[in-house]
Amino acid sequence: MKFATSRIAAAVGLSLTLGLAAATVHAAPIVVKFSHVVAENTPKGQGALKFKELAEAALPGKVEVQVFSNSQLFGDGKEMEALLLGDVQIIAPSLAKFDRYTKKLQIFDLPFMFDDMAALDRFQASPKGQELLDSMKSKGIKGLAYWHNGLKQLSSNKDKLVRPEDVKGLKFRIQSSDVLEAQFRQLGANPQKLAFSEVYQALQTGVVDGAENPWSNIYSQKFHEVQKTIAITNHGALDYMVITNSGWWDGLPEDVRAGLQKAMAGATAHANKLAAEINDRDQKLIAEAGKAKIQTLSKEDVAAWRSALKPVWDKFQDQIGKDIIDAAVASNQQ
Ligand code: LMR
Repeated sequence: MKFATSRIAAAVGLSLTLGLAAATVHAAPIVVKFSHVVAENTPKGQGALKFKELAEAALPGKVEVQVFSNSQLFGDGKEMEALLLGDVQIIAPSLAKFDRYTKKLQIFDLPFMFDDMAALDRFQASPKGQELLDSMKSKGIKGLAYWHNGLKQLSSNKDKLVRPEDVKGLKFRIQSSDVLEAQFRQLGANPQKLAFSEVYQALQTGVVDGAENPWSNIYSQKFHEVQKTIAITNHGALDYMVITNSGWWDGLPEDVRAGLQKAMAGATAHANKLAAEINDRDQKLIAEAGKAKIQTLSKEDVAAWRSALKPVWDKFQDQIGKDIIDAAVASNQQ
């Protein structure tokens, strides 16, 4: 009898423990993994940290945002697959990395498409730009926001980098974009698609001669230490689309989705405000470091790059859509 009572007590105890465990499991916060490939002291790195801060403040105990920088969790090539498999919930690839999913976003890679970041910002905010956030809907990808980095600068391991003919025959690392591939082919150079995490070593060992990136990426990855010249070409943009898995997003409780959306709006404003500051700061730091020469270009030099690269637009017009190109061109006029 005594034995039976103690067994019942043990069983009750066990079920209480299991009940508590179940309650604990139930109350566990929703984990939102946000993975990216750049350093924390970049516009995207800062935006991701701001999103964590705002989301956790808005939804205390309900969400936990885990940020993974520098390709720690997933690098290029793997992160999109991981998002679709549900292994990560938010990523923010550069707009150059979507051409397997939609051709429309190739608009952002066309050389000299946007006169400056203000024009790019106007296009992203326009009805056409906002429509593009949904351009991968059928693939299960939802665009939450655009985040700025900045205009790209061309760098190489040669002393001379002033005119288009200076890159003839050189090997350039590119992001996984067919437009960027065409851009370098147009110049008679040899493009090579490489993941961001492999660029430093490729430049250092001479696997490639040059690359293109905004100042913030060049500085934070120390590319200026393994390049001889960085020309201020501003020949293209490098911005991001922050994306999520639409199935996951739609399945979130209403209040959590609203809280995350608000946090994303705050993080977007923060990252976009910081982007220009960080790029200016990093250009100065690169100049101070004195490892790579910063080459300024005359108006005539820039015009030569512009006209050398213009044929790339025609190659992609049908894939992108003339309506989108026209809207982007219009964003250059205020
Ligand atoms: C690159 O691969 O050069 C960039 O897209 C990296 C980044 O995310 O800024």
